[in-house]
Amino acid sequence: GNTVRLLKINNFLYPPFSADVIEGVPDLEIREDDIIICAYPKAGTHWVWEIARYLLAGATTGVPLAEKDNCMIEWMPASSLDNLPSPRVLNTHLLFRQLPRQVKQKRCKIIYVNRNPKDLAVSCYHHHLKLSQFYNYEGTWDDFLPLFLNGQLDYGSWFDYVKDWEKTVQDNPDVPIYVTSYEKLKQVRYVSSRHGVSWTVRVVKNPVDEITELSQFIGGSSGRCDRQFAARVEEKCSFRSMKSRKGWFDMSNEGEAIMYRKGEVGDWKNWFSVLQNEAMDGYLKQYMSDAKTKFLYDLPRPPM
Ligand code: A3P
Repeated sequence: GNTVRLLKINNFLYPPFSADVIEGVPDLEIREDDIIICAYPKAGTHWVWEIARYLLAGATTGVPLAEKDNCMIEWMPASSLDNLPSPRVLNTHLLFRQLPRQVKQKRCKIIYVNRNPKDLAVSCYHHHLKLSQFYNYEGTWDDFLPLFLNGQLDYGSWFDYVKDWEKTVQDNPDVPIYVTSYEKLKQVRYVSSRHGVSWTVRVVKNPVDEITELSQFIGGSSGRCDRQFAARVEEKCSFRSMKSRKGWFDMSNEGEAIMYRKGEVGDWKNWFSVLQNEAMDGYLKQYMSDAKTKFLYDLPRPPM
């Protein structure tokens, strides 16, 4: 069809699976050293999750974590999450008030990830298409954008979601929340050939400072991360390296990678028509003009 099949629980929209797990989320057992990654779907949840895992594991052992497990709070049965070794990095698309009660009681560290809504909407479209056997979605991009703008998707309206997290950060200065973004973490580099023989790689925009700050927020042994290590983590968690390590849950039934598509900032320009862009800007003006978050729709381009 050209609408998305969803679950509605307590007046909130979820993907059409694991209703029993969702109902158990408030009572989930949480550990003090859990790191919780929160983001609207397709904002870069798995990327930041992997960066956090590397920061935690790598700084102590120098060796990156081997296995990728699914650590999604509202998808995985409590027993699987209970079996994960500490320190755990858990991820979720829930709002703050929907998180397990113990997250607040134990003052767990939360990393919230933003992404510009234009790239995010395009990424969401492909996500729903690739998982069409669950979402029963077979529409076009033109059919999809109105669903995104009107919040007829899992986790509801992106506009409401972002504003809700902004308010959470504002109203809870005692809760450790680090806000980062897809665009802050994206490295821009280009390779040029000199004299047709040797190759030079130039980094136009470097996320090493952001990764270093993230590591200081995570703390523990990861807080001792230096710039050199941050650069290694960036490389290990680049789109290309992560894609090459994809695990079982990264695949849809057709064997296509769900979590890795293009991995860029600005791909929206290949999808939005002028009219669609105006529609999105209209929604942003109407719903987000009081929001503090500033979104980056493009990154510096390498010189030609
Ligand atoms: P695109 O569809 O624009 O490529 P989430 O993990 O929240 O579901 O987000 C998925 C999006 O993050 C997809 O965006 C995916 O390609 C991108 N992504 C995944 N790993 C990435 C990485 N290491 N670097 C950059 N983007 C990444």
